[in-house]
Amino acid sequence: MLENKRILLIVAGGIAAVKVPDLIRRLRERGAHVRCVLTKGGAQFVTPLTLAALSGDKVYQDLFSLTDESEMGHIRLSREADILLVAPATADIMAKMATGQADDLATTALLATDKPVMIAPSMNAMMWTHPATQANLLTLQNREVKVVGPGAGDLACGEVGDGRMSEVPEIIAALSRFFQKTQGQGPLAGFRAIVTSGPTHEPIDAVRYIANRSSGKQGHAVAAALAEQGAKVTLVTGPTAEPVPDGVQVQKVETAAQMLKACQAALPAEIVVCAAAVADWKVEGAGVSKIKKGKAPPELKLAENPDILATLSAPGKDRPALVIGFAAETDNLIENAKAKRAAKQCDWIVANDVSPGSGAFGGDSNTVHLVTADGVENWPTLKKRAVAERLAERIAKFAERNL
Ligand code: PMT
Repeated sequence: MLENKRILLIVAGGIAAVKVPDLIRRLRERGAHVRCVLTKGGAQFVTPLTLAALSGDKVYQDLFSLTDESEMGHIRLSREADILLVAPATADIMAKMATGQADDLATTALLATDKPVMIAPSMNAMMWTHPATQANLLTLQNREVKVVGPGAGDLACGEVGDGRMSEVPEIIAALSRFFQKTQGQGPLAGFRAIVTSGPTHEPIDAVRYIANRSSGKQGHAVAAALAEQGAKVTLVTGPTAEPVPDGVQVQKVETAAQMLKACQAALPAEIVVCAAAVADWKVEGAGVSKIKKGKAPPELKLAENPDILATLSAPGKDRPALVIGFAAETDNLIENAKAKRAAKQCDWIVANDVSPGSGAFGGDSNTVHLVTADGVENWPTLKKRAVAERLAERIAKFAERNL
């Protein structure tokens, strides 16, 4: 459940910070992306260099660092994660969180975030049982802050009792349970979605095929975003290196014909998003043996592939309520996208310019225009995941009103 999850790990100043390197290692082994914020206190126990080396990302420490701010403002830092984890969470940072202080990067990110927060408290037993700490804990729990631990046992100060930060496996398990729970909850809970993604491979012969430059990033991100909104997602994907998002059922295919078949097998569904770069043509009579090199190159005769989007959009009792296509254009983007929406009879089209250098194919960002019956919405250039989240939110709003 942690695959591709983005965790902003806030390391406060407790001796348990020495466990953080192992926590990062274990999280990354499970496919999570970890970015660290290190408080002044935390830096007494673990170095930024260690955290940077293990997380493979920059370590953020200073609220007023211009370079950090220009590269990744503290607001964005707190927004780009899927969850903020404070480990260890000292009595001090819990108190600051409970009273809404923001006097350093960690507390500012915690106050600015719109994402869930989890804390792993760690402190001396007397501090843990102190009414002030217990009151702060209650305040945080009332604000939906998730708490893992603390455990009981020998404490660094030589005393025995509650206050010992949970062991790394327990923290990992708490995070997995959290993401498990959030799948299947949300505005799209109860809705079924089919998403196509990636390229198709159309065989020429036993070893050769026609393909395209789709990486599957955009389609896979759409599948992940719909799952996070609670939808039951079937991702039908051509061959890609893109990891399968958490909480998504995947059907791996090669050709357009197989992709159509897999989509039809996944019906009925309320939502369809066709983000795949489906080959319009296949090679007629593609054989199962390898074409031998002759005097002249072989002539390839191409034949039409089935149009998956148009097939799923066709009026009928099983037609999904909301069918969304993508339009990959190099010229007259909006006009062509509008024409495509009409021709394919789908409800929305996400139009993107795929000209060389646009980075749409294979890149991490995308600039899209949402074409609906009500007009065209021009979205700014966003990371593909952000495009997907924004699309999923639009779909959730549509579902709330119309489904
Ligand atoms: O995968 P990435 O590297 O992240 O790149 C993302 C993307 C550029 C592939 C994606 O954003 C995108 O534009 N996908 C659609 C690519 C495409 O095939 O566009 P098109 O204009 O040729 O097709 C229009 C629509 O019809 C698309 O929804 C497509 O999935 C669908 N189609 C096309 C042909 C076909 N035979 N069947 C289809 O369903």
